[in-house]
Amino acid sequence: MKCFNHFKDRSKTRVQKSAPTLKNQSKFDQSEPERATKSSCSTTPRRITEIYEEKAHNLRVFTFAELRQATNNFNRLLKIGEGGFGCVYKGTIKPLQGNPGDPLVVAIKKLNKDGCQGHKQWVTEVQLLGVVDHPNLVRLIGYCAVDGERGIQRLLVYEYMRNKSLEDHIFNRANPALSWDRRLQIMLGAAEGLAYLHEELEIQIIYRDFKASNILLDEEFNAKLSDFGLAREGPTAGHTHVSTAVVGTYGYAAPDYIETGHLTSKSDVWSFGVVLYEVLTGRRSLERERPKSEQKLLELVKQYPADSRKFGTIMDSRLENDYSLSAARRVAKLADSCLVKSAKDRPTMSQVVEVLKHVVQASCVESPPMKYLEDVEDSPAEQIGLPVSVERRMSHLAKISENLDGVNTRRFLMMQRAKVT
Ligand SMILES: Nc1ncnc2c1ncn2[C@@H]1O[C@H](COP(=O)(O)OP(=O)(O)OP(=O)(O)O)[C@@H](O)[C@H]1O
Ligand SMILES: [Mg+2]
Repeated sequence: MKCFNHFKDRSKTRVQKSAPTLKNQSKFDQSEPERATKSSCSTTPRRITEIYEEKAHNLRVFTFAELRQATNNFNRLLKIGEGGFGCVYKGTIKPLQGNPGDPLVVAIKKLNKDGCQGHKQWVTEVQLLGVVDHPNLVRLIGYCAVDGERGIQRLLVYEYMRNKSLEDHIFNRANPALSWDRRLQIMLGAAEGLAYLHEELEIQIIYRDFKASNILLDEEFNAKLSDFGLAREGPTAGHTHVSTAVVGTYGYAAPDYIETGHLTSKSDVWSFGVVLYEVLTGRRSLERERPKSEQKLLELVKQYPADSRKFGTIMDSRLENDYSLSAARRVAKLADSCLVKSAKDRPTMSQVVEVLKHVVQASCVESPPMKYLEDVEDSPAEQIGLPVSVERRMSHLAKISENLDGVNTRRFLMMQRAKVT
């Protein structure tokens, strides 16, 4: 899905510098009219650019020749993806001089000179990924910036994510379907990444481009957020929002942000709610090729409320009913809370993390898979997502235990153990 309104002020961003220290051009500048002023009564918070100056020595600076060699001259066969910024290649780089070791497999993103994103986002990404450090954010290994006679070259070198993006697994039927547990773990990891950006850094970072294609997956399917080109600093003390040009991706951006340009961390929370529904339903937030009534996911899901009997109908058929219905209802309710109209009433990302942790824990011990639950679906408790009574569950488990296949035996044993202790 493509970005919108990227680079309203693109002409201003063309510069000749080759290092990412563009003092007057970063997204982290406080140059916009309603940008919060610094608080006079507390210690002045540092800006990302200042923190970057202190920490960025961790980043490796590559020559263009090194990256050309790493990708066999940007060979088409090594291309692993393409977005608004440009193409992404798989490559192999040598360890740093004096560091013995195997060559390192990396992902190299090369700025497309005619792309709708560009140099300014490249700078933002280098500055931001140069200072953050969290298991759910992709690691930037280094960058390359050359301003030659033939124009500018901007590249980013990341750790290689073997399982590409969540988008590749949820929507691309060429890949095996993701299991329910894996979907929950991925969304929990992504929520932790956002909570870190919003709540755990010296300054708040608003990500602004949360979507399935920006959630990368490593060899163990751990989620890592990527693409920080649109991110920016949140409001400082005494201010509720940052005023900014509206950028992001259609189908994911919060309506209040689109209407007013007022950006808060709750804009990311909205986008998180959208992706939660994508993960539940296996449908994209916007699918123009479907009948009109089904094109917009958020309008569609309103017809299947989390508490209703028909809720299960919109669940992704690729799950083959192998999920806990009550857990799915709780996730849908969490998504609904992220998608409330009033931004301030949406949960914070750390609250989202807490809810998802409970759902993950509960789905290990709570409900049997949906395919064994059809006969208890009439229960009013089940309809509103409340746990069914222990006695009822025990008799239900006894009934289904005869039918368990190999895949579900482990889950069943875990449930039994949980009831015994
Ligand atoms: N570090 C990485 N490791 C492995 N694959 C990657 C990595 N970074 C990106 N990719 C692959 O390249 C694809 C394109 O990524 P990119 O971020 O350029 O575009 P996008 O997210 O699809 O779109 P947009 O430009 O609108 O954000 C990703 O969906 C993913 O499959
Ligand atoms: Mg991306």
